[in-house]
Amino acid sequence: MQDIRNQVINCKKCHLHKTRTYAVPGEGNTNSEIVLVGEAPGAKEDRTGRPFVGAAGQLLDELIQRYLRIERDSVFITNLVKCRPPNNRDPSEDEIVTCSPYLLAQINLIKPKIIVTLGRHSTRFFQNLAKVEEESISKCHGKPFYINLSFGTVRVFPSYHPAAALYNRSLKSELEKDFQLLSRLISTSSKSTT
Ligand code: URA
Repeated sequence: MQDIRNQVINCKKCHLHKTRTYAVPGEGNTNSEIVLVGEAPGAKEDRTGRPFVGAAGQLLDELIQRYLRIERDSVFITNLVKCRPPNNRDPSEDEIVTCSPYLLAQINLIKPKIIVTLGRHSTRFFQNLAKVEEESISKCHGKPFYINLSFGTVRVFPSYHPAAALYNRSLKSELEKDFQLLSRLISTSSKSTT
């Protein structure tokens, strides 16, 4: 993982390196069965080089503690795009194509059982990879699908993005329901493998 981390930190493959403060490779437990994938770093992540440390990150930490009953450092947290797009604009298709090999390299190393996609961009990326129909996050959240990777089949669990719940309070209960479902999924999948 250190190798991927170094590559990300020094990456100049797209123009985002010109405006970033720090690239944000991702962090957490590289032996985890769960990888959470956000969209791209925001302002605080760009200043610190760490994923999900701003307001959305605080909410994510609460959801992980409350519903999964674990701490954030028990899972691996990363993003689809590792550098902040200026003014937090959406990442472009080009940026996603250029950066996503880092995410796939992280996943191939960790070999998780579940990938939790936070928001529409990471969800769409994995829908395309799985060749399942692209559905909006409002339709597909909470409904897992599968991708086949070189090390095996991985369940992908689409969830709302925590930032969406901060901007639109009515989505907070949807996000909480996603994490309740996720917690059930994790406990049933660990029972079936033990
Ligand atoms: N939003 C994201 O998608 N990722 C972060 O790291 C922070 C906010």
